[in-house]
Amino acid sequence: MAHGHHQHGHTQEKGAHHTHPDWVDMLPQLERNAEVYTPLYTQALDWLRVSRPAGTRLIVDAGSGPGAVARQLAAAFPEARVVAADPEEALLARAAERAEEAGLSDRLSTLRVELPDQSAQLPTADLIWAARSLHHVGDQRAAIAALADRLAPGGTLALVEGGLPWRCLPRDFGLGRPGLQARADALEEQWFAEMRAELPGAKEDTEDWAALLTDAGLTGATSRTFLLDLPAPLDDDARAFVIELWKRRADTFPGSMAADDAEVLARLVDPDDPRSLYRRDDVFLLAAHTVHMAVRA
Ligand SMILES: C[S@@+](CC[C@H](N)C(=O)[O-])C[C@H]1O[C@@H](n2cnc3c(N)ncnc32)[C@H](O)[C@@H]1O
Repeated sequence: MAHGHHQHGHTQEKGAHHTHPDWVDMLPQLERNAEVYTPLYTQALDWLRVSRPAGTRLIVDAGSGPGAVARQLAAAFPEARVVAADPEEALLARAAERAEEAGLSDRLSTLRVELPDQSAQLPTADLIWAARSLHHVGDQRAAIAALADRLAPGGTLALVEGGLPWRCLPRDFGLGRPGLQARADALEEQWFAEMRAELPGAKEDTEDWAALLTDAGLTGATSRTFLLDLPAPLDDDARAFVIELWKRRADTFPGSMAADDAEVLARLVDPDDPRSLYRRDDVFLLAAHTVHMAVRA
């Protein structure tokens, strides 16, 4: 426990800056993330499309970021208009630019909205998609209720939250003590809890997403988990994405890690190290995201 307290103290020292993600800074990574995860989102959106009756005319992507998944939503629902909504102007500008490049600007627009306070500005939608955005809102219950209110009768609210920690190397990858990935996951859990605790209006709520959807007056809550299974060897984009994830860990965690783990982490992200993530043949990407959906009667 002493070790745990030390970690807590370390991350607290850096305060809000440490846990508040700089979304604009992360724009390239958010875009790469959505591209790399395309096979997973394709399956998830197929599931949504099959579950939706005909007549999905308006879709809101709540917390869209730079809009890569909003474009996938536009492709999956060719009859629908898509509104990419996010508090970050710079991300929305990128979403608009990419929509134009893709010839989608007549069907994909952007709207600056911060949940839950500005949710009344959202149009009434047949489908609201909120992927990995709700956990950045202090009061998740209020945000879900606010989004449920913006649904047309028969409309669907779909949340992407939870799943499994990703893996990219074997448990024993020949450097340091086996199990580094699980130990890094534990640090991320701690970072996540601190990030949530520091959000404005932070409220603790059990993360039973189906129950939260039901409490918001929606019916038929169901959850399904979709796999991203990119075997080794990774293509350049997926490898760059994995390296970025570990670089972020290398920037955030070394002071909280055992010295030998911190050393291995530094080697993994050193392009000159022959056993780094840049040069290894055994890097893969295995991840699972859960989609929770429910319908307004
Ligand atoms: C991890 S990114 C996910 C982006 C995108 N949905 C995706 O799956 O690629 C989280 C997004 O939530 C947005 N966000 C953070 N706080 C928010 C809030 N209060 N209301 C709406 N969106 C928010 C951020 O600006 C960021 O674009």
